[in-house]
Amino acid sequence: MTAPRRLGERDVFPVGYGAMSFANFYGPATEEGSHAILDTCLELGVDHLDTSNVYGSGQSERWIGSWLDKVGRGMRDRFHIATKAGITQRDGKRVFDNSPEHLEAELDGSLARMGVDHVDLFYVHRRERERPIEEVAEALGRLVEKGKTRTVGFSEIAPSSLRRAHAVHPVAAVQSEYSLATRAPELGLIQACDELGVALVAFSPVGRGMLTDRPPDAEKVAPLAFLNVNPRFLEPNLSANLEITDRFRALAAEMGTSAAALACAWTLQMGDHVIPIPGTRSVDHLKECAAGAALSLGAADMARIEEVLPVGWAHGDRYSDAQWVGPERFS
Ligand SMILES: NC(=O)c1ccc[n+]([C@@H]2O[C@H](COP(=O)([O-])OP(=O)(O)OC[C@H]3O[C@@H](n4cnc5c(N)ncnc54)[C@H](OP(=O)(O)O)[C@@H]3O)[C@@H](O)[C@H]2O)c1
Repeated sequence: MTAPRRLGERDVFPVGYGAMSFANFYGPATEEGSHAILDTCLELGVDHLDTSNVYGSGQSERWIGSWLDKVGRGMRDRFHIATKAGITQRDGKRVFDNSPEHLEAELDGSLARMGVDHVDLFYVHRRERERPIEEVAEALGRLVEKGKTRTVGFSEIAPSSLRRAHAVHPVAAVQSEYSLATRAPELGLIQACDELGVALVAFSPVGRGMLTDRPPDAEKVAPLAFLNVNPRFLEPNLSANLEITDRFRALAAEMGTSAAALACAWTLQMGDHVIPIPGTRSVDHLKECAAGAALSLGAADMARIEEVLPVGWAHGDRYSDAQWVGPERFS
């Protein structure tokens, strides 16, 4: 069993849960189904919840709040709750706003939706290009002083930006897409986090479903506005990626586990400071992902995984330009 991982001020179960799935990114979600996921997190000891103000325009946070109402507010402290702000809409366009006023007002909104007086981690979801990151780190520090968040983090920033922010206020975590399908954090970010004692929270650790035993096919992708514009899920890339990842599914079966568990275990093995946050609407799928914490992979296992999914195997970029709209993009 992988030991608990340090995330800011506390230890968490090695595999967390990403509540973006409580919005309808990967298919219709229900409040009841989302509560069942949170019940299962409690049962499995998965105690790190990741959400954002923009997931379903607050729906993800509201359902975390309604679940806490249901199970009792005493349960709140069993969880490390992380949320994010900084992406917003202006004149119908997606923009980034890292101003102190915007971040604080959005954090207040998140606290109200979840019915909590603080979160454990507050991330800037995307950096605003024009604003010096030192200014943003200072503003985040003031939110810690006010007791609205215990710690702060950034999502999708470059190692140099992390260093600049960390010099102003300690950064507890950087959240970045990291999986066998997206290895860019290995080009400096994972090392910078390790050096500074910052957790690397790996989002989309099962490659948006591609690294599981039930990957999305063209029929599943077609109605999903989030995936049907994503280059990896568009033909001819989709068919190529499904064919390549079949080898990974076969390897997982041979190793006596699920592809999702193996994908999560792989991220854990890439560093003691790496914490995957898979998302799902299914209790059974969550159990598979969490089982990754119980797998121990040796050097020979890692080599076999690398053999079937060598760096750069994925066809297509991880986001389309329209989906991204950001200053510090890694492919
Ligand atoms: N900071 C950021 O900018 C950012 C961006 C994206 C995501 N995130 C965070 O990271 C979390 C996870 O990322 P993600 O949800 O995008 O990607 P992911 O966890 O890699 O994949 C989610 C997809 O995989 C499927 N899935 C998960 N486990 C499965 C299993 N065992 N078997 C079959 N299918 C499985 C889910 O479908 P089912 O629902 O059918 O299981 C869903 O379609 C999000 O919830 C969010 O909290 C952050």
